[in-house]
Amino acid sequence: MHTQAATAMNPDTLSSELRASRRHLARITDDLDGERLLGPKLAIVNPPLWELGHVAWFQEYWCLRRSAPGGMLDSIVPGADALYDSAKVAHDTRWNLPLPDLKATRSYQSEVLQRVLRRLEREPENRELHYFAQLAIFHEDMHAEAFHYTRQTLGYSNPLQDNEIAAVPGTRIAGDVELIGGTFALGAPPGGDFVFDNEKWAHDVQLRPFRISRTPVTNVEYAVFVDAGGYSRREWWSEEGWAWRSREILQAPKYWTKQDGTWTQRRFDRVVGLHPDEPIIHVSWHEAEAYCRYANRRLPTEAEWEYAASWDPRADEKKHYPWGNRFPDAAHANLENAGVAVTAAHPEGDAASGCRQLIGNVWEWTESAFVPYPGFVVDPYKEYSEPWFGTHKVLRGGSFATTRRLIRNTWRNFYTPERYDVFAGFRTCAPGT
Ligand SMILES: [Fe+2]
Repeated sequence: MHTQAATAMNPDTLSSELRASRRHLARITDDLDGERLLGPKLAIVNPPLWELGHVAWFQEYWCLRRSAPGGMLDSIVPGADALYDSAKVAHDTRWNLPLPDLKATRSYQSEVLQRVLRRLEREPENRELHYFAQLAIFHEDMHAEAFHYTRQTLGYSNPLQDNEIAAVPGTRIAGDVELIGGTFALGAPPGGDFVFDNEKWAHDVQLRPFRISRTPVTNVEYAVFVDAGGYSRREWWSEEGWAWRSREILQAPKYWTKQDGTWTQRRFDRVVGLHPDEPIIHVSWHEAEAYCRYANRRLPTEAEWEYAASWDPRADEKKHYPWGNRFPDAAHANLENAGVAVTAAHPEGDAASGCRQLIGNVWEWTESAFVPYPGFVVDPYKEYSEPWFGTHKVLRGGSFATTRRLIRNTWRNFYTPERYDVFAGFRTCAPGT
């Protein structure tokens, strides 16, 4: 039972969240200009000028054009579909489009937002509009996080600079919790808030007893693996992982460098010392898997992860967040912030299982392939989940750059296993006794 809605879909809340989501995106992108508006052509980034227009196009398409009474309306920007429809405009062509300039792109953004806000006021009972407004908010929040990744990838400054929200300290914890498993309802239950098609619906799975680490793997733990020859010992890597490591010519995580015997890492445009107690970040699924083989551990399945995050045995029910059903605040989790916190932080966000930081700080790779839940039915935004089934791995929990309104226990993120630009780390599992 979700006793408190994470994001109640009423017109007033939606209007303020649409504005908040736009303000958040603006903070992450406001200083991008000149050559940075297009930037280098890489598979893992979008040209910022295109991405800024794309979020406006998406909001316009779903909230104004597609759901208009009387059929599809034209865009405010002539030919917008040929520019900004991510399902139709191939990724590597996005640098060569006749895009409106920055000023025109920003006025497209604000014009669309103003029209959506007016429509919400005019049509307070339009449930379909509420659904698509919520979709547009989450979409924009996800692009804001992607802009964070882009800035790390390209070595731009951290848009939020130093951590603005101080981590709430806790006593350092380590080791595993042992969980009994059993029958567990994986996925989102019907009748709650907005959920994506890939979370539908809660269905029973069987979990064997297992142990799961109370925190994500830390830098110091990962450094032991690296210093033990982790990146040159073939036996710790899968075939696919080894081929990837060899192509990338990695001897350590992408952003690590050893200077005078000490590891440093690049965070945005700065090189900083590796904090031993922060979680490992910017590792691919392959690296996570290799670490697990070295440590005689394994990644949690997404069902194990969600069980550890959501199951409250005393209440005999699933919770919306690890700490319960209360909307996240700064004490619970490191969200909407500038960087990672040590793994001891945020004890108030502990799950009933005893695990810490399941929400926020770093996304966590799971062992699971991204596949549909039984009975999957595609939602109107068809390209959100379905095209990626089978090729991507599931990540859970959100990172410091994820917005509070977006993340919850049942949220499934998904990336291909070679991606290390994501703000992702992992925790590990072992069999129960
Ligand atoms: Fe998008």
